[in-house]
Amino acid sequence: MCGIFGIVTKQETNLGPTLIEAGKMLSYRGYDSVGCATINAAGEIDLRKDAGKVDAVAEQYNFAEMSGQRGILQLRWATFGAPSKVNSQPHLDSDGDLVGAHNGNVVNNAELRKQFMAEGMTVRSENDGESCIHAVERYVNKGFGMVDAIRKAYEDLKGDYAFVIGRQDEDVLYAIKKGSGLVAGIIEDGTVVSSDLPSLLPLTRQILRIEDGEIAILRADGIELRSVADGSVIEREVELVKETMEAAQKGNYPHFMLKEIHEQPVVAGELLNLLDNSEEVDAIVARIKAADNIYLAGCGTSYHACLLASVYFSRLAGRATIPVLATQFIAQYGPAVGPGDVGMFVSQSGETKDVLNAIESAEAKGMGVLGLVNVVGSTLMRVSEHHIPLGCGYEISVPATKTFTNQMIAFLYLALRMGGHDTDILHDLPELMRKTIAASDPQAAELADSLVGVQDFYQLGYGMTYPMALEGALKLKEITYLHCEGMLSTEFKHGPLSAVEEGYPVVYITGREDVDLIVSGINEATCRGGWAIVVGPEDARLRANGHEFMILPETPTPEIEALLTVIPLQLLSYHLSLALGYDPDFPRNLSKTLTVD
Ligand code: M6R
Repeated sequence: MCGIFGIVTKQETNLGPTLIEAGKMLSYRGYDSVGCATINAAGEIDLRKDAGKVDAVAEQYNFAEMSGQRGILQLRWATFGAPSKVNSQPHLDSDGDLVGAHNGNVVNNAELRKQFMAEGMTVRSENDGESCIHAVERYVNKGFGMVDAIRKAYEDLKGDYAFVIGRQDEDVLYAIKKGSGLVAGIIEDGTVVSSDLPSLLPLTRQILRIEDGEIAILRADGIELRSVADGSVIEREVELVKETMEAAQKGNYPHFMLKEIHEQPVVAGELLNLLDNSEEVDAIVARIKAADNIYLAGCGTSYHACLLASVYFSRLAGRATIPVLATQFIAQYGPAVGPGDVGMFVSQSGETKDVLNAIESAEAKGMGVLGLVNVVGSTLMRVSEHHIPLGCGYEISVPATKTFTNQMIAFLYLALRMGGHDTDILHDLPELMRKTIAASDPQAAELADSLVGVQDFYQLGYGMTYPMALEGALKLKEITYLHCEGMLSTEFKHGPLSAVEEGYPVVYITGREDVDLIVSGINEATCRGGWAIVVGPEDARLRANGHEFMILPETPTPEIEALLTVIPLQLLSYHLSLALGYDPDFPRNLSKTLTVD
């Protein structure tokens, strides 16, 4: 997700340790490169950066000795351009008198880079953070002052981002917000700005929140806010923030799980930008197309993404794939696989031992290894021929939520591309996710209260919602400690239907294509006294037959509708966990990453 931090002090001082600490505080967001720039009182810029972790890069380049009156730190999570020294941030403008760094995605980066080069600017990297600096340079070169140059640049830079920029011959930093997080603060001898509040709390409790469309001018003696729209001064009081560090890290959500559920639309949008601009997508599609057999392997939630992916590849690209639990891969397919086959291995952490074992056995048979992984620098990322980063930042709560939705989105994108379909159909997805969260959160909370006392139940889906039923049940078991089984709805009558009695809850998850089949399943249960909870589209047939409803917004395709069904199920598990008095973030007996057999 990247992170930026800036500081302005009254006198030149040793800023290195503060910048390193800020880097450590922001590192939870996930990153692959680190950089610092300081500007001393004489206006000299000292820029040090490289790919790697904060401790290692800081030691190698001796960040600790860096001094200045202004400082900028950036942690980069690669989106535009590979993780490398040149793509690391901060960046300089052409003649080296502007320096800055960004967080977020400039979606018209490719087009802007061409324009900057045509205008004679020196473009050194592929990174979109550099475009923020050149976008300002373009107008400074035309004689605009910094505030007006930034206002003009804001019009040129499309996407969601925030950036910090400083000019050699001034003594201020400018911080601009458009979509990505940005918070400023007053410290004893100056001012600071950062991508998030927790990284400022060790330095100050006097906070100034910056809104989209605002420029904060950080001076040693205070912060001035200006409107991008007309350049006017915005008056806002500095707040005295009282929350604890943990509350700040949770962004005022009571739990990481809820925060991460609410982050899903944002990280989905970031992933789509990343995929639109990734060369890895073509490489992976070509590798899959050429393979004899394609295995999709993961554990737990990541395996459920593989199950849905298999349906996506079949429906959208006419290609059969073999989803398999990573632990079962060796026993079931190990003896049969060969060099013509490819495995797409899916893991949030990239360190799950069961997945790494499967990869080892696949490699031993000469199979191709592809990765879909969240944690940058993880083993899965390193051993994959090609990989797609999920771009979710850290997922702290043990139950996987935002990484699951991004796994499904990445697979849907690949299937669309393999089938020669337009991926623009996905661009409304973040908004649909937002609507689903807003509608289902209160419903899930109410339903959870009425489920207290229930000891076991079923979640049933069909076709594309079958993996969602498995995922909904896993999530529920994981954080409520109740028994819940996810099943194919049509299998219910082959045995488990016998459990149904008066008031027995069954959750039915359906897409619009399967309503008739699901309605028939609902009736099997309700005629025996079952309590039917329905997750699906608005449909009179469902309304007429079910008891409780969590309704999805209208969606452009059944594939998108299917992946949205998991959001109400995540929220139901979350609220039931709370209603039962548990901490959903850290369920007993489990850990986030399972590095053992
Ligand atoms: O890091 P991974 O995706 O490889 O983890 C796999 C499973 O352990 C994980 O998905 C687990 O099932 C989740 N905690 C479920 O919410």
